[in-house]
Amino acid sequence: MSTVMITGATGLLGRALCQKISHHHTVIGCGFSRAVAPLHQLDLGDQTAVLSFLDTHQPDYLIHAAAERRPEYCERDHQGTLALNVAATEFLAKTCRQRGIRFFFISTDYVFDGTSPPYLESDPTHPINFYGETKQAAERAIIADSELHTIVRVPVLYGEVTTLEESAVTIIAQQLLDSPSASHDHWAIRYPTHVDDIALTLNDIIANPDVTGIIHISGNQAFTKYEMATIMAQILDVPSYLVTSQATPSGDAKRPKNCALKDTRLLQYGINHQRDFATAVADVLSTHMLRCQ
Ligand SMILES: NC(=O)c1ccc[n+]([C@@H]2O[C@H](COP(=O)([O-])OP(=O)(O)OC[C@H]3O[C@@H](n4cnc5c(N)ncnc54)[C@H](OP(=O)(O)O)[C@@H]3O)[C@@H](O)[C@H]2O)c1
Repeated sequence: MSTVMITGATGLLGRALCQKISHHHTVIGCGFSRAVAPLHQLDLGDQTAVLSFLDTHQPDYLIHAAAERRPEYCERDHQGTLALNVAATEFLAKTCRQRGIRFFFISTDYVFDGTSPPYLESDPTHPINFYGETKQAAERAIIADSELHTIVRVPVLYGEVTTLEESAVTIIAQQLLDSPSASHDHWAIRYPTHVDDIALTLNDIIANPDVTGIIHISGNQAFTKYEMATIMAQILDVPSYLVTSQATPSGDAKRPKNCALKDTRLLQYGINHQRDFATAVADVLSTHMLRCQ
């Protein structure tokens, strides 16, 4: 059995990665402020601690999912965002190359400006907010470091949440519950992707040493937040006539209109994990409501 180290293991995606990949490999999950055993606490800004952790655990693979991924927060804290999203990533990539650890970096569709979808893995990037800029900078550093690294770009994620606010998808359900007649963005087109599908795909990629370079993973159903709200309103018994749309972009940080990721390379390898959004989000919401009862 190989050993897979996963950063961001306390986060939305990292939890799914740990759970799915542990069926096939020994998983060493690392978080930071929320890490409790069996997860390890590791500050990725502390290079000495990172080197000592790698000495101790000797992973064969490292999936780097830790990041600051909230666009508004990134605009407010450039220094902190650069330290985690760029400097720590660059250090991990370099260290993994030196030690022969296969390195996977989770990136985002926000490296694109959203004006000419769909985007191929080979298309030039052009982010329009600071979060996207830091992910682009990290991608460039990784590509310059070694062609053996793998960059995995993903769109907006949902899955099992600790709070509905944790995902940009399930937060819509919280907004419907708090204020059923609040308006929802009907401008940006998103491709909500279940974290379990990303984890299953990573599992397949790990098994194939040829999959290096940039890979796109994306759900194939397109929705605006308003359209997701109408689906979730039905699940939550919120009257659909109350749900209103907003024709202009929402949020303080600029957001791209449509960053559809074309997963041409995964299809070449015959890797394809998809699920129906309406069914999957109903599962996520009912599991969450049951847990909160
Ligand atoms: N969520 C999305 O919709 C989305 C969309 C596109 C791309 N992505 C990318 O997917 C990846 C995973 O996102 P996510 O939604 O799972 O993120 P998340 O839920 O916000 O989790 C972030 C993770 O980073 C860890 N972290 C923060 N500061 C750290 C530090 N100094 N040292 C070590 N770890 C630290 C956190 O640990 P603690 O919480 O324990 O402090 C947490 O585990 C990220 O690379 C993100 O950019 C996410």
